[in-house]
Amino acid sequence: MTPRPLLVFAALAVATVLSVARAADATLTLRADQPGPIINRNIYGHFAEHLGHCIYEGIWVGPDSPIPNTKGYRNDVLAALKTLHVPILRWPGGCFADEYHWKDGIGPRESRPSMFNSHWGGVVENNHFGTHEFLDLCEMLGIEPYVCLNVGSGTVQEAMEWVEYMTSPANSPMANLRRAHGRQEPWKVKYLAIGNESWGCGGSMTPEFYADNFRRYNTFVKNYTSTRLYRVACGPDGSNYNWTEVLMQKAAKNMNGLALHNYTLPTGDWKKKGAATDFPEAEWFSTLRNTLRMEELITKHTAIMDKYDPEKKVALVVDEWGTWYDKTPGSKDGFLVQQNTLRDAIVAALNFHIFHRHADRVTMANIAQMVNVLQAAILTEGDKMILTPTYHAFEMFKVHQDATSLRVDLLSPDYSFGDEKIAAVSASASRDAAGKVHLSLVNTDPHHAVTVACALAGVEPKSVTGRILTAATMDAHNTFAAPDAVKPAPFTGAQLENGELTVALPAKSVVVLEL
Ligand code: AHR
Repeated sequence: MTPRPLLVFAALAVATVLSVARAADATLTLRADQPGPIINRNIYGHFAEHLGHCIYEGIWVGPDSPIPNTKGYRNDVLAALKTLHVPILRWPGGCFADEYHWKDGIGPRESRPSMFNSHWGGVVENNHFGTHEFLDLCEMLGIEPYVCLNVGSGTVQEAMEWVEYMTSPANSPMANLRRAHGRQEPWKVKYLAIGNESWGCGGSMTPEFYADNFRRYNTFVKNYTSTRLYRVACGPDGSNYNWTEVLMQKAAKNMNGLALHNYTLPTGDWKKKGAATDFPEAEWFSTLRNTLRMEELITKHTAIMDKYDPEKKVALVVDEWGTWYDKTPGSKDGFLVQQNTLRDAIVAALNFHIFHRHADRVTMANIAQMVNVLQAAILTEGDKMILTPTYHAFEMFKVHQDATSLRVDLLSPDYSFGDEKIAAVSASASRDAAGKVHLSLVNTDPHHAVTVACALAGVEPKSVTGRILTAATMDAHNTFAAPDAVKPAPFTGAQLENGELTVALPAKSVVVLEL
């Protein structure tokens, strides 16, 4: 359910100076007796592109690097990803995918040809991280690989052969080429994207032209084992509803998923997006307001999909989302380097709640991107690594992976700024396989704590525990000098009394409770 405003707070001038708690601000009913769809774990997916220092330096340093590594993957990042339970990882792009020729990335590394990365910084890519390096990483960490095929500058045959190379157990040419490069058995690859942003960097196609291309590629991308491939078509950019209409009309029968890309910019202006740190409250507010648009986008795209697919067989796959700020001053153009603050953790949590509410249609989402690029979970510099507030939000919310969503009815006060307002509180809940109920809460208001009075139906908890992510300032962040400035802490603001739960939710915080 969409949060509804309960109270309208005082004028901005007062709101910006107060930082005290207000009493009994929100009411919430947790309907554990009304289970909804499963929250697919893949909603907590990531995206890693050959862009800046995401792959090279962020994940891959090569086996000869002085940075501690396992077969070329940096150990600190491997350990951090393991803790995060990353369910699925999209690769190799992004825009990069539509200029990537997979055969350049197999065989002995020293003999692989280089390529020019025209989209991202104009750097020369040595192709040392290719199909084997990606799929072995996924296998090592128990992550589902999600491979994006080159539709823009590649050929149908190239795509067809790549799928054979990765998945065929037969005594066939591409499977034998894979064996010649040291991998006997096929990898488990189920998820495939047929092109990326084909309306833009992936080929500037019309929806009609892409729909035909999707069907053509799809015909030749074969299932080589009993595991049927999960085929994701390129979907709309934000609110391009016509793209969804055309794709669903022409190709719904051929696809398992339709992708949606939507980035959150503080200003909404690509030329001056807004800074990642040291931003005014106006940009805290506008970032959160803009990210909440995800709800409207999913609702409207779903309504179109429902016309052609009322049984919801085709998923809406939000395979690129997150914040996009002006690059860190001094960083290289095209590397999309940005800091990550408490604001990003709040953005992540708000989006998780939206995805949970649409779990019947949204079964996968991939944040852009995993390491060192855009809203990254992990930042590295030389041999150092830090976990960002976004990482901590993902880690706190991992309890919702594959759990059954539960209905939450919420009446929230507003967080007002100027003459605009959004709900101060956002919430969602789920029950996991062991029967544990988790309630996650966000307070978007940077000044006021909110007391949430929670009625519980269908659950009679004996105890409540929890963790909180918050900080003193809106742009609090971790640095290589102070890596733990923002990190989760035990939460003691939840009280159970006579079957009622009361939560004192601090200003600008994310809380996850276990009942
Ligand atoms: O994530 C960065 C870029 O944003 C991706 O390469 C592209 O698909 C999108 O426009």
